[in-house]
Amino acid sequence: MDQLSIVKLAGNTVLPLAYVVTAALLVVAGYFLALKTQTSMLFCKDGKFKQFLIENVPVVNEKYLPSIWGFNGYTHTVLATLFRNMIIPTVVYEREILTLSDGGEIAIDWRYPKSDGPQSLITIVILTGITGDSQAEYIRETVNKLFEKGYCCVVFNYRGRGGVKLKTARTYSATNIEDLTEALKHVKSKRPNSPIAGIGFSMGGTLLGTFLMSREQAENKHLVTGILISVPWNVTQACKNAEGSWLMRKMGQNLSHHLRNVVLKNKDIIFDQDNNTSLDYNIIKQCNTIREFDTAYTIKMFNYSNVYHYYEDASLSNKLHLINVPCLCLSAADDPFLYFRDIPVQEANQHDSLAILVTSGGGHVGYMDTFWPFTSNNFMLKLIQQYFDAIMVDQNYERFVNY
Ligand SMILES: *[C@@H]1O[C@H](CO)[C@@H](O)[C@H](O)[C@H]1NC(C)=O
Ligand SMILES: *[C@@H]1O[C@H](CO)[C@@H](O)[C@H](O)[C@H]1NC(C)=O
Ligand SMILES: *[C@@H]1O[C@H](CO)[C@@H](O)[C@H](O)[C@H]1NC(C)=O
Ligand SMILES: *[C@@H]1O[C@H](CO)[C@@H](O)[C@H](O)[C@H]1NC(C)=O
Ligand SMILES: *[C@@H]1O[C@H](CO)[C@@H](O)[C@H](O)[C@H]1NC(C)=O
Repeated sequence: MDQLSIVKLAGNTVLPLAYVVTAALLVVAGYFLALKTQTSMLFCKDGKFKQFLIENVPVVNEKYLPSIWGFNGYTHTVLATLFRNMIIPTVVYEREILTLSDGGEIAIDWRYPKSDGPQSLITIVILTGITGDSQAEYIRETVNKLFEKGYCCVVFNYRGRGGVKLKTARTYSATNIEDLTEALKHVKSKRPNSPIAGIGFSMGGTLLGTFLMSREQAENKHLVTGILISVPWNVTQACKNAEGSWLMRKMGQNLSHHLRNVVLKNKDIIFDQDNNTSLDYNIIKQCNTIREFDTAYTIKMFNYSNVYHYYEDASLSNKLHLINVPCLCLSAADDPFLYFRDIPVQEANQHDSLAILVTSGGGHVGYMDTFWPFTSNNFMLKLIQQYFDAIMVDQNYERFVNY
């Protein structure tokens, strides 16, 4: 090719390229402009807790602008996982194996504070999603952030998770708080003078919410406050949504794969010791959705007659009034597991000390808010850190407890 034709070719491509770039920029600008009009909504009864949040947790008042990578709830959820997995380093924990009263075992992973600041006296108990453990990417970034701020973090891993083998056939249930109660008693015995706050992600939020509503909590006041992130408020509907579209079925399959795996890996313990004829290995092996797994396994372990009884029991909506400690919840209107109509905003509006912050975007445990996705900060982490700094450090939680 001679010089002239190269110049000609360049001339021919520059113009279309300019069009494409301009068009792309317009799309990006339009996207951000469209989103700018959508403010986050804080649902809580007008009163001192709501006022406290508005004054002390700045992100509550900010417009949440999702990263352009999160232009839709599903991609937001998947890409947030992907990007975080690439950049968030493994956390080095001090592990304790706690033997439970029925012989089961769980891993308790501690990240002790690095210095003696006011935050070091506070313990934050972290509950993962249903298939997560202390090295799940959203747990790593949360622990890193809280550690950096000086808090003492401890991650509660469910039975069969975090590399611990099962000792009995029992695994996770969103409605059974026995294991969490034992773990909290253990945490308290190790740090007797430290107030304990809880944070639960997704189904971990369901379990934490169930705990906060329990008699055990009312009588023994284990936790002083809680944060619930991306809770499937209506578990029945969340499982339906997980089977709704092709993309969601893929995600649901992946989750059920992780659930199934615990049973397959612990087959010897579950089937040879218990001889429980109500469990069918061949059916469990083929479960492809969360609902199928819960039908074949979870409800049998926890004595529910059918899976919908379990899901309705696990749904936190309609029960929020049972929570008596201050509680901040974060839900995205585009969470693919959730419909906006299932977020109990009316109930929150009647509650003195429970608030739900609903953002227009964020996906499920996504909440990326920067164009450059490889960063270790996001909206969710800011909320967690600002809320704990505000409510824990000067024991402000005492002002909002309703016992
Ligand atoms: C959850 O959603 C289902 C419909 O999908 C509805 O029948 C049920 O009553 C809802 N449960 C709660 C607790 O709101
Ligand atoms: C699904 O699970 C498999 C097995 O753990 C994992 O390798 C894969 O990355 C997961 N895919 C998605 C989309 O999460
Ligand atoms: C389970 O069944 C096997 C053989 O089917 C038997 O050897 C074993 O004793 C049984 N275990 C219990 C706890 O019943
Ligand atoms: C055995 O199955 C029954 C239901 O038939 C259930 O109630 C029980 O919890 C199961 N026990 C074990 C140890 O798996
Ligand atoms: C389920 O029922 C069986 C048999 O009545 C009982 O042994 C077991 O402890 C129950 N499990 C739970 C989690 O309540």
